[in-house]
Amino acid sequence: MEQRMVTGEKTDEDRGSELSLRPRRLSEFIGQDRVKESLSIFIEAARSRGEPLDHVLLYGPPGLGKTTLASIISVEMGVRLRVTSGPAIERAGDLAAILTNLAPGEVLFVDEIHRLGKPVEEILYPAMEDYALDIIIGKGPSARSIRIDLPRFTLIGATTRAGLISSPLRDRFGVVHRLEFYSVEDLATIVSKSAQVLDIGIDSAGAYEIASRSRGTPRVANRILRRVRDYAEVRADGVITEDVACDALAMFDVDELGLDRLDRKILSTIIDKFGGGPVGVETIAASVNEERDTIEDVYEPYLMQLGLIDRTPRGRVVTVNAYQHLGRELPADDTDGQARLL
Ligand SMILES: Nc1ncnc2c1ncn2[C@@H]1O[C@H](COP(=O)(O)OP(=O)(O)OP(=O)(O)O)[C@@H](O)[C@H]1O
Ligand SMILES: [Mg+2]
Repeated sequence: MEQRMVTGEKTDEDRGSELSLRPRRLSEFIGQDRVKESLSIFIEAARSRGEPLDHVLLYGPPGLGKTTLASIISVEMGVRLRVTSGPAIERAGDLAAILTNLAPGEVLFVDEIHRLGKPVEEILYPAMEDYALDIIIGKGPSARSIRIDLPRFTLIGATTRAGLISSPLRDRFGVVHRLEFYSVEDLATIVSKSAQVLDIGIDSAGAYEIASRSRGTPRVANRILRRVRDYAEVRADGVITEDVACDALAMFDVDELGLDRLDRKILSTIIDKFGGGPVGVETIAASVNEERDTIEDVYEPYLMQLGLIDRTPRGRVVTVNAYQHLGRELPADDTDGQARLL
C-alpha cells in the first residue's frame, strides 16, 4: 500500500524519532489547553493528598498526543508507566496478572482500550472501582468467587473510537478528555521545537507553512518536517524557508490544506461516482480501495473538520467547499447542495 505522508497513524519511520520529540513534562506539552489545565489541577490535588490520580480516558484521532499525555502523567505523578493495549490482553487472566503486578500508585496505560474483550473488560470494573479482582475458582455448583485486593493505581485508557467503548467502562473513568486537532499556531511551535531537537535550520515562515499543512496533527507535522529537511538538504541550502517548504510539499503532493492524493480521491469519487452523495462509507471505502475503519478514523475526521464533507443519516455528502477546493463546478440543479450551503 502507498505510504501516506499526512496520515495521523503511526508508521515505522515515526517510531524512531517520536521518543526524542515527545514532550516529557506537562509544561512542555503544546496546545490542548483545556485538557492540560484540568490535568494539572487533578495531578496537583492527587499529589498533595498522596493518592493516585483518578482513572483517565483520552480519546481522539491518531497522533494528537494520547500516548504522550499518558507518559507525561506518570512523570508528573512520579510513578512508573506500564504500557499495554486492548488487543494484547487476550484473556481475563492476562489482565489479572498485569494488575496484580502493579506497584501502589502506578499508572497502567491501555492503548486501543475499545478493543478489550468483554470478559477482560469485566475484570476491569471492580479493579477500577474497588481496586479488587473477583476471581472464580472451580466450575459448576462448587464454583466460588474470591476477592483479591489490588494496590491503588491509575488506569489511563486511550482510544481513537470513543463510540466503541461500552458505557459501564466509560462511566468508571473519573476524567474523560477528547483531544482536539491543533491550531496552526500551536503546530508551528511544535515544528520549531522539533527542528531544534533534530538540529534542522528553519525560519518561522517555514514552520508556519509546514504547520498549516499538517492536518492539525503533531505526528504529521513532525513527519513532514523530516521529509522537508531531506528536500532542503538536497535541493536548497539546508534551511527550511517558506519557499523550500512549499516546493517540497508540492513535490510530495500535499496541497495547501494538507490533503494528499487519497483525500482528494475520496472527495472526487463522491462527486464523480455518487453525484456528491449521500453515499455510505462502506461504498466509499470500496471505491477508493481502503479499509472502512481507516476512512472513518483517519480521513474523515479531518475532512469533516475542514468542512469538506458532512455526515448525514443517509451517508456522506461533499459540501460546496469540496467542489471549490477541487476547482469543480457546482452541479447546477443541486438544490440539495444549496441547502447544505446554509
Ligand atoms: N502537544 C504536543 N506537543 C509536542 N509534540 C506533540 C504533542 N502531541 C503529540 N506530539 C508529538 O506527536 C507524536 C505523536 O503523539 P502520540 O504518540 O502521543 O499520539 P497518539 O494520540 O497516542 O496517537 P495514536 O492514536 O496513534 O496512538 C509524539 O511522539 C510527539 O512527538
Ligand atoms: Mg498512542
